[in-house]
This record gives sequence, C-alpha cells and structure tokens, in this order.
Amino acid sequence: MFENLFKFRSQDLAIDLGTANTVVYARGRGIVLNEPSVVAIETINGIKKVKAVGNDAKMMMGKTPDSIEAIRPLRDGVIADIDVAEQMIKHFIQKVNGKSKLFSYPEIVICVPSGSTSVERRAIRDAASNAGARQVFLIEEPMAAAIGADMPVTEPIGSMVVDVGGGTTEVAVLSLRGLAYTTSVRTGGDKMDEAIVSYVRRHHNLLIGETTAERIKKDFGVAQAPADGVGHTIHIKGRDLVNGVPKEISINQGQIAESLSEPIGTIIEGVRIALENTAPELAADIVDQGIVLTGGGALISGLDAALSDETGLPVTVAEDPLACVAIGTGRAMEDPMFRGVLTTA
Ligand SMILES: Nc1ncnc2c1ncn2[C@@H]1O[C@H](COP(=O)(O)OP(=O)(O)OP(=O)(O)O)[C@@H](O)[C@H]1O
Ligand SMILES: [Mg+2]
Repeated sequence: MFENLFKFRSQDLAIDLGTANTVVYARGRGIVLNEPSVVAIETINGIKKVKAVGNDAKMMMGKTPDSIEAIRPLRDGVIADIDVAEQMIKHFIQKVNGKSKLFSYPEIVICVPSGSTSVERRAIRDAASNAGARQVFLIEEPMAAAIGADMPVTEPIGSMVVDVGGGTTEVAVLSLRGLAYTTSVRTGGDKMDEAIVSYVRRHHNLLIGETTAERIKKDFGVAQAPADGVGHTIHIKGRDLVNGVPKEISINQGQIAESLSEPIGTIIEGVRIALENTAPELAADIVDQGIVLTGGGALISGLDAALSDETGLPVTVAEDPLACVAIGTGRAMEDPMFRGVLTTA
C-alpha cells in the first residue's frame, strides 16, 4: 500500500512550460525531459492530427509541406493556441510517466509568467488539468527561477533575478518568499532571432529563416560589439530577395551586436525600470547581492557585462540558466519550505 502511495507521488511533476522549451522535473528524480515547445500538426481531409511533438517537431520547422504545420502553441510567454498546448502537455506527461493508468493522475506544479492575466493563468491550468493532472498548482516564473538559482528567497534579503526566456524577460525583486516588484517585457530570445532576420534582410537583401537566425545567435551572438569592432566573420545562406535564388553572404560579430542592440536595449531598460521602482532597503541589498541572470537568453555572450556596465551592479549568470525555472519549480513542489509560493489560481 505504501509502495503504491509512493509510486503515485513519484509521478508528480513540475513543468516549466516555456515559449521556446518545455522542461519537466519529476518528484525525486530531477529533470526528466527538455524539449522545444513545438507541435507539428498534419491535416488530412480536413482532420487535424498531431504528427510530432518537441524535438521531432522542431526539426520540421520552416521545412514542412502544405499538409503539415509546425506550431509553437506559446507566444510571448502565454498560451496562444490552447488546444495545441494541451496536446503538447499531454504528450510530454505521457512520455515521462508512461501511459496513464487509472488513479495515476499526477499533481502538477506549472510556472506562469508573473505578468500573465487571470484568463491566461486559467488557460494554463486548464490545459494541465485536461492533460490528466489531479491537482494543479501555479508558481510565478521569476520565483521559480530564483529558487532554481539558489537565491535567498525565503530570507529578509532583497535580490534581483532577470529571466531572459524565449518570449519574455521577467525582472523581479524577491524577499521573504514574495515578489516585492516584478515587471515583464515581451522581449526575449525570439525577438533577438527576429532582429537578426530583419538586419540580414535590410542590409544584405537576404531572407533567412528563424531557425538559421537562432543558430547564428546561439553560436555568435554578442550583447556588445567585440573589442576590435569585428570579431568572427561567418557565412550565412538564405534566399536573395532581389532575384529569388539561394545565396550566401558574410556577416561579422560587430554587425550581429548591432542587430541585437534593440532587443538587448529593451531588456536593459526593463531592469532599469525595476531598479527605479525598488524600495530603498531592498535596493541596498541588491547592491551587495547583485543581479542574477537566468533563462536561455542569459547565455548571449556579454549580456552580463552589458547589464553591469549599464547599472553599475555586479551581474552573474546562474549555473544552468536553461534549467533554472524547472529546477526551482521542482524544488517548490518537493520542499515544504517553499509551499507558500504555490497558488491554485
Ligand atoms: N547559447 C545561447 N545563446 C543565446 N541564446 C540562447 C542560447 N541557448 C538558448 N538560447 C535562447 O534562449 C531562449 C530559450 O530560453 P528558455 O528556454 O529559458 O525560454 P522559455 O522558458 O522557453 O521562454 P519563456 O520563459 O519566455 O516562456 C531561446 O530564444 C533560445 O534561442
Ligand atoms: Mg522560461
């Protein structure tokens, strides 16, 4: 009986349902899944069917025939396509827990962006319930990020976390298990990809896909121009806008920094606004504690230095920025000390 009970509990999951990636943490097991938040839907004779989810679906992005559509059900950190999001959550839960048997419905803790409306929260909660959750708890994404980054969120010490995700950047000041201040800007990794696409189109008349832009950003993206103004030079392929044929151009890191300056500037501006609105006692703590960067966007080379130059504060990147939110959500589920940060609505 106890063994069953334990098994039952061990199916409980913490989910970071991100715009770019979904990361799942299982009670007592840690991270068990990390896949892109992408679903490929095939339409045959007007009937829609899920063709692939996660990694398999992302590989199809930008390369699908007319009958298949690769959809990202979340945009700007919130659910844009509720049905597809539900299918995706269901698929991931089954992948992690196996085909659900009777009474094996897990408890699920899922994180939501701090700026999300009650309608958006309900959409996320309903999607998890319909996907088979027995009970759903929510946690604010910056709180999860801070717990995952080992920040002192339960103590009366102010600290600041900046989570640069795919869709949004969340800036929060935390103290005593609560969010003392939060602001969310709808700029993150996606906007950086778009900025690269539009830079290459404007300056080189070359059309490139989002996937190519993301690869350039991950491998060569920089938040500040390199010391020599140029850095590495890379070649990229796409379609010439003038004569329509495939072609290759070269671009250097100075130009990539230039293309990223707008989204990076927006992120830095969000941090400045948060600092201006922070109570003095907490602001004093942040001077000592510094700012911690989480989320995949924290991996842009030099973002910490750019932010530090701009604010005069110490800035560090969390140990595993892409997993921070899921780890923090998982700890909040496992450790009674954090129960107070979970909500049901
Ligand atoms: N090495 C890297 N350099 C720059 N950006 C990166 C790197 N690795 C991942 N990213 C970017 O990080 C973003 C994904 O981060 P993350 O998984 O934290 O977002 P998310 O949680 O899915 O989104 P959100 O929190 O906005 O819902 C993507 O835009 C991705 O391109
Ligand atoms: Mg995220």
